[in-house]
Amino acid sequence: MALHAKQDNPMPQHIAIIMDGNGRWAKKRLLPRTAGHAAGAETFRKIALYCREIGVKYLTVYAFSTENWKRPQEEVSKIMSLMKDYLLEAIRDMQKNHVRINFFGDLSALSPELQALAAEAGKESEIYADSQVNMCINYGSRDEILRAARKWASHCAQTGEDPDSLTADSFSRLLYSGDIPDPDLIIRPGGELRISNFLLWQAAYAELYFTDVLWPDFDERELDKAIEAFQARNRRYGGI
Ligand code: FPP
Repeated sequence: MALHAKQDNPMPQHIAIIMDGNGRWAKKRLLPRTAGHAAGAETFRKIALYCREIGVKYLTVYAFSTENWKRPQEEVSKIMSLMKDYLLEAIRDMQKNHVRINFFGDLSALSPELQALAAEAGKESEIYADSQVNMCINYGSRDEILRAARKWASHCAQTGEDPDSLTADSFSRLLYSGDIPDPDLIIRPGGELRISNFLLWQAAYAELYFTDVLWPDFDERELDKAIEAFQARNRRYGGI
């Protein structure tokens, strides 16, 4: 599938997506919410593939937040099982896909099986440098920032380094996203106009794109539209 957005215009290097609207998509079809998540996982596969095809190097997706544990057990289990399927598939197809799989979040709360699969997918795919998917699982941005602040505090206590020597760049490196650039474009399908504790630090200069399209209905054409909107923006980073 070819990119419709103009490729001579700047392309986002890093796109981050809040995959919202799965539940409503299912409800509209009189299906259980879990069917919405299954459809959402398919959309994720399609969009990840498309990002690789059109040369978007980093794709970060919000798959499960630190607050999502509050959902019914059946729904949590279904999301975990969809992630398991994806990781098994990613490990199986690694040599074909050449995508680095990375994780943002506290994975220690996941089942030992899922933790082992995440570790395996992460380790085995480390060698791939052209395309990277970051899956945010048990992720919350405030939690991420707090962890980074604690890391810095304990580093200073242990080494005697001056806490005031911390810079925005060195703080960025303490986040889960430490070794990758900030997102250029953050997309939220599903009609809500909020950031929901997603990449708060990293979003400082990101362009935001909201659409009413529900995540399971989001497709390559919708991503093209978001990229076209991004290309029409004037990014000034506080300048004029
Ligand atoms: C938000 O929609 C979506 C989630 C909380 C879960 C997203 C998870 C997936 C798309 C599947 C994960 C698996 C892979 C392989 C990425 P919602 O349930 O809040 O929708 P609603 O607002 O319509 O209720």
